[in-house]
Amino acid sequence: MSAEFAGQQVIILKEGTSRATGRDAQHASIAAARVVGESVKSSFGPKGMDKMLVDGFGDVTITNDGATILDEMDVQHPAAKMLVEVAKAQDDEVGDGTTTAVILTGELLGKAEQLLEKDVHPTVIVDGYQIAAKKALEILEAIAIKVDPADKVMLKKVATVSLATKMLAEYADEVSDFCVRAILEVAEKDAKGFKVDIDDVKVEKKPGESLSNTRLIQGVLLDKEVVHPGMPKRIENAKIVLLSCPLEVEKTEFDAKLNIKNPDQMKGFLDEEEKMLREMVDKIVSAGANVAICEKGIDDVAQHFLAKKGVLAVRRVKQSDMEKLVKATGAHMVTSLEDLGGKDLGNAQLVEERKVSDDKMTFVEGCKNPKAVTVLIRGGTERIVDEAERAVHDALCVIRDVMVNPKVVAGGGAPEAEVAKRLRAYADKFSGREQLAVQAFAESFELIPMVLAENAGMDPIDTQVELRTKHEQGVLWAGVDPFKGKVADMAKQNVYEPLAVKLQLVKSASEAAAMILKIDDVIAASKKEMKGPPNGPEDSGEDAGEY
Ligand SMILES: Nc1ncnc2c1ncn2[C@@H]1O[C@H](COP(=O)(O)OP(=O)(O)O)[C@@H](O)[C@H]1O
Ligand SMILES: [Mg+2]
Repeated sequence: MSAEFAGQQVIILKEGTSRATGRDAQHASIAAARVVGESVKSSFGPKGMDKMLVDGFGDVTITNDGATILDEMDVQHPAAKMLVEVAKAQDDEVGDGTTTAVILTGELLGKAEQLLEKDVHPTVIVDGYQIAAKKALEILEAIAIKVDPADKVMLKKVATVSLATKMLAEYADEVSDFCVRAILEVAEKDAKGFKVDIDDVKVEKKPGESLSNTRLIQGVLLDKEVVHPGMPKRIENAKIVLLSCPLEVEKTEFDAKLNIKNPDQMKGFLDEEEKMLREMVDKIVSAGANVAICEKGIDDVAQHFLAKKGVLAVRRVKQSDMEKLVKATGAHMVTSLEDLGGKDLGNAQLVEERKVSDDKMTFVEGCKNPKAVTVLIRGGTERIVDEAERAVHDALCVIRDVMVNPKVVAGGGAPEAEVAKRLRAYADKFSGREQLAVQAFAESFELIPMVLAENAGMDPIDTQVELRTKHEQGVLWAGVDPFKGKVADMAKQNVYEPLAVKLQLVKSASEAAAMILKIDDVIAASKKEMKGPPNGPEDSGEDAGEY
């Protein structure tokens, strides 16, 4: 890229850089983001039965969850990538409502495109959207229902609705039950209310049996077996040492050559190594530990010594699990055996290796800190447990959301329809182009119940008319019941969702739409050479081998 300056060519961008400006850049960004929005529509809601998605390029992806779909799509366009981030933000903040947020952002941009065509300036649209978003948040707060944060029945309802759209729907009753129990277990109460760290609930998955065998375990479950057959498989009153260093003799970083001239020298060398390992084990035993859990490896010889001393040991445990064990057992993470002492040990009533289908897993139960629970997900195949894990994650999140901010709204697109109604009325306060932008925001919200209806095989236009009428008549929670295929009062159907999810989606969708609308210049560096085969497809990356 170059420009003429005082009669001289000035090169400002590298060769191969592409650039789109003004209306072109806007149009391309909006189009790319809308394709992403379109592609998740079919999976939305409890009847979003096609978990098969076709993206703008005709490729098929099979999965269930909004954030995951986008993750797998390997989106190329920078603006489309921002939509992927909307889903991620929604997932990180509240754990649910990812599909809704993406559909909404796509629609906000679609409506903006129409306004741009009418020569409304992007900043006017952005301002209008911001005004509307602020109002939408107020409306949601105003219509939300206050609940008791520890009301198990309500928490369960919210979890059930979240699971209803996922593969676990059939088992929603049981699964939501123990998701509620798990969260109540780890929740901490203070003067201001509840605090919940979702990471305190460990989710472990193991293919085998069926989804109905998914269960809650009081303690930390490690997907590891006891390292040595000679070790005990069950230790009561466990004194646990948690090691982040290996029980191995460090190998040198570089190749060293050792000239051994006679067998004695060899023996001396090996003896020395054995002595070091024996000392390590002695330190553990003399500190009083009968269980050793190690993040790194444990040498065969060390295993043998540990077994002889009756210590149960597990190795190569994930760092995140080690952190959970620190919390649960009260042990310190030991980084070097040098200064290991009794004070570093943690406690559990029972550490035991048990068989879970064909695999052995280690259960750490009855911990000092009872706030340690594990959801063990079972299911026919790898794919099923993966999907179930995502569903459980969503359910845990929505329960947390309600405990932390104890307000709910009914589901089925009812709050979106109500927000649309009130925003339309609010738009009348403005004039000219700003009014158009606020109206466009309202209409975008109305799309949510319509997509639910469409996926349930209902007529979207009829549904829209009926929903509008009901809301005008004051039926606040009139929404779409996809199971019965009609408009119904969602509160009466016991379909509730956290207010937090709806608030977050207004924020993430409006911010992302604004950001994309403000782009009028896309400068893209030329693609770096890919490692793949020469002359492979341009956007090859990971797919290169498939063609
Ligand atoms: N039983 C139900 N009746 C009506 N709507 C439901 C029901 N269960 C879930 N929904 C609706 O489905 C939508 C969520 O669908 P989902 O596919 O999980 O998308 P998201 O990723 O946005 O959470 C919400 O609007 C919710 O109200
Ligand atoms: Mg959901």
